[in-house]
Parts: sequence; structure tokens; C-alpha cells
Amino acid sequence: MDRKYWETIAPKYETEIFDVLRNDTSGIIVAAIEQMASRKKTVIDIGCAVGKWIPVLAPKFKQVIAADISAINLRIAKEKYQQYDNVEYTRMDMSADDLTVTPCDTAICINAILTDSLEKRINFFQSLSICLNKGGKLVLVVPSLESKLYTNIIANRWNVDDEKGDKPPEGKKAIRQIRNIKQGVTDIDDVPTKHYLKEELELLLTLEGFKVDRVEKINYGWNTEFHKPPKWLKGPHPWDWMCTAKKTS
Ligand SMILES: C[S@@+](CC[C@H](N)C(=O)[O-])C[C@H]1O[C@@H](n2cnc3c(N)ncnc32)[C@H](O)[C@@H]1O
Repeated sequence: MDRKYWETIAPKYETEIFDVLRNDTSGIIVAAIEQMASRKKTVIDIGCAVGKWIPVLAPKFKQVIAADISAINLRIAKEKYQQYDNVEYTRMDMSADDLTVTPCDTAICINAILTDSLEKRINFFQSLSICLNKGGKLVLVVPSLESKLYTNIIANRWNVDDEKGDKPPEGKKAIRQIRNIKQGVTDIDDVPTKHYLKEELELLLTLEGFKVDRVEKINYGWNTEFHKPPKWLKGPHPWDWMCTAKKTS
């Protein structure tokens, strides 16, 4: 999941990539953003992609920095949201060793720290801190490892979507998957993707100088995981983790 991957995905982004804003029917993320919003504050949307959060952010903040590693994503977002004159589009690699950025008062980062590379994730979490002024607030959403395992267990136990018909991985692929799962990296559509434990997320943010305020589930429908979810399958539903935090040092 390097820059090339995201540039290639960009033109087909709408069909390929899960839409958190549309699927968070509880509105928990928007409510968290509204809590930290002010027309006197700046906000950075880290990993903004094609700019889905811009209509949420632009009317509520003084200035929005829409940042992404993909130039094509940024071009699409800029084209789409011309009506907002307080948005600045910036190509930025949050995993770079030498990130220079003007810190903002607030930040959102929605499902952007997905890389299977530990080195890139370490830099990304450090950059989260660099992007914020002291006292700045962060809304971070990441895939949940607990949810992914829960989904796998249900799929296997009740053979959802004929899960037992899937050929188990062999050889190098099997070795890669075993190595990855130990690090919380598991495939989404055959792409190794980092998933996080709640405790891990709290630790990672604390080590970067954040005080974690709350970690909450963003629940989704079962149709986001299965083609044919069993009719009896209700809650708990699959989820991402949303964390709100304050930069304290
Ligand atoms: C799954 S998309 C999420 C998009 C958006 N936040 C949303 O919720 O609709 C992940 C985005 O993170 C961006 N990204 C991945 N690694 C990045 C990095 N190192 N620096 C900046 N952006 C990155 C990708 O280009 C992609 O647009």
C-alpha cells in the first residue's frame, strides 16, 4: 500500500474503497468532529482521498487542509468541491522521514493508516503529532482487529458466503498470512491491511504525546462484510474503532 497503489486506485475510488462517512449511520464521527469544530480553528484531513469529508469540514472550520499521498485523489477532490474557498489541497506523505507541515488546531484521519509496513506506520503516527498544535484535537478512525476476527469466526462457524468452500492458502501466501496476522495485518480484498486492537491504538497514541479521550465502535451493517448475511445475524455488528484524543506534549 504505497503511493503507487493509491494513485492506481484513485480513478476507481468510489467503487473500490469503503465509504466510512456513508456507512456510519449513527453519525458518531460527524458528532465528534462537530464537538471540536470552530470557525476560528484550522483542521487537517489526513488521507482525505477524494474529499468525502470536505462538505462536513469546510462549513464548520476557518480553514481545511486536505492532505493525501495521492496527487490524483487530490485532483479529483479539488475538482469536485470547488464551492468551498477555505480548502487547501496538499500532497503529503505521512510516512516520510522528513515531514514538514504547518500544524493545525484539529485533525481527522479516517481509515488512512492501513499500510502493512511497520516502519511506515511508526512514521505515520509520529506525523499525526507533528500535524497538530499542542492542545490540538484528533479524530482517528482505524479498522478493528477484534471485528475482523469476530467476522471470520462467524463466517467459519455458519459457513457464511460458503466460506468453507474457499481453498485455504498454501506455500508462500500461507506463510505471509501467518506472519501478517501476528502483527494485526489481514487481507481486505487480497490487500494486506493493518487492523488495530483497542488497547494497541490507545498505546500508540499515548506514546506520541496524545491523551486519549475515548475509543468507540463505529458500527456497520453485516452487508459490509458478507454478500448474504444470515437473517438471524443481528448485533454486535462489525465495526471500526474511532478514537478522540488531545495532543498534550
Ligand atoms: C481508505 S482511504 C480513506 C479516505 C478518506 N479518509 C475517507 O474516509 O473517505 C485512505 C487514504 O489514505 C491515503 N494515504 C495512505 N497512506 C498515506 C500517507 N502515507 N500519507 C498521506 N496519505 C496517505 C490514501 O492515498 C487514501 O486516499
